[in-house]
Amino acid sequence: MIDRIVNTTEDDDTDKELEQTLRPHNFENYIGQEKLKQNLKLAIAAAHKREDTLDHVLLYGPPGLGKTTMATVIANEMGSNLRITSGPAIERAGDLASLLTNLQDGDILFIDEIHRLHRVVEEVLYSAMEDFKLDIMLGKGPSARSIRLDLPKFTIIGATTKTGSLAAPLRDRFGLIHRLEFYSPTEIEEIIQRAASILGVKIKPEAARILSDRSRLTPRIANRLLKRVRDFADVNGDGIIDKDLGLKALDLLDIDDRGLDSADRLLLLSIIDNYDGGPVGVETISALISEERGTIEDFIEPYLMQIGFLQRTSRGRQVTQRAYKHLNKNIPGII
Ligand code: ADE
Repeated sequence: MIDRIVNTTEDDDTDKELEQTLRPHNFENYIGQEKLKQNLKLAIAAAHKREDTLDHVLLYGPPGLGKTTMATVIANEMGSNLRITSGPAIERAGDLASLLTNLQDGDILFIDEIHRLHRVVEEVLYSAMEDFKLDIMLGKGPSARSIRLDLPKFTIIGATTKTGSLAAPLRDRFGLIHRLEFYSPTEIEEIIQRAASILGVKIKPEAARILSDRSRLTPRIANRLLKRVRDFADVNGDGIIDKDLGLKALDLLDIDDRGLDSADRLLLLSIIDNYDGGPVGVETISALISEERGTIEDFIEPYLMQIGFLQRTSRGRQVTQRAYKHLNKNIPGII
């Protein structure tokens, strides 16, 4: 996949370290996602009152919006241990069995990319989530028999970028299902200011605003940009990030004032230049810009649609007038 600074996956160890340093640990420090926080606070207070575990929670939404972070906050607020795994990492039913039997009462198991669980694993998970029993088959053929193990009472927090590809029986076993939304520009500014103070970086409010405009409403990108701009300030300035320095650093990264990078512009311009703005099918776009369909759908399109630059129609992708204006292109039919 193309290497983009606006990539929303955490793609290297520095990224993970950065996220861990900056990750808020409780609701008070967690900026944004107000609706979700309200719902979770209520559910956690109720669980505490009943001296019970929290219902299973499913978090969905585009990458980089803080699903793992929210899972750590939930665990802290519950006073529970958190174990972290991911759908593709659990290869066999036995892997899941060993994970679950090693949990203690009240533990939380976070399964990232839960839509990528193998079917056989998923089926074992159903009864584990529903009645905290594990059905295991011993042996094969006519002598095979199944045994039921009692499990501790745990909570699963599942995270997915695609609820659509989650099997209905699995989805139905989550008591709390919530979507993480893109953040508002003001929330992103606050997140940048908070990260700057943790990292000991001095940033002027107008520079935080400029960074926020280019962060695609996504904390992970905001924090990554802050780090790059800090490097620039340390080398080319006096370490203080002001408007002028912020703009210079971001120009170097080739990110424009709406946060579009060269991959976004290539996609929009190839539809404009070759198909008068569309509609055009995603497979055609994929061939035009030599990028896989999945990458286009998961990593390029969501933000372009969120800011109203691209529409998905039944006949394909359509570039909007707003995008034409942003790219200084003449709208077809308007002279
Ligand atoms: N860092 C990353 N996401 C954050 C959030 N939602 N609130 C505070 N700091 C963050």
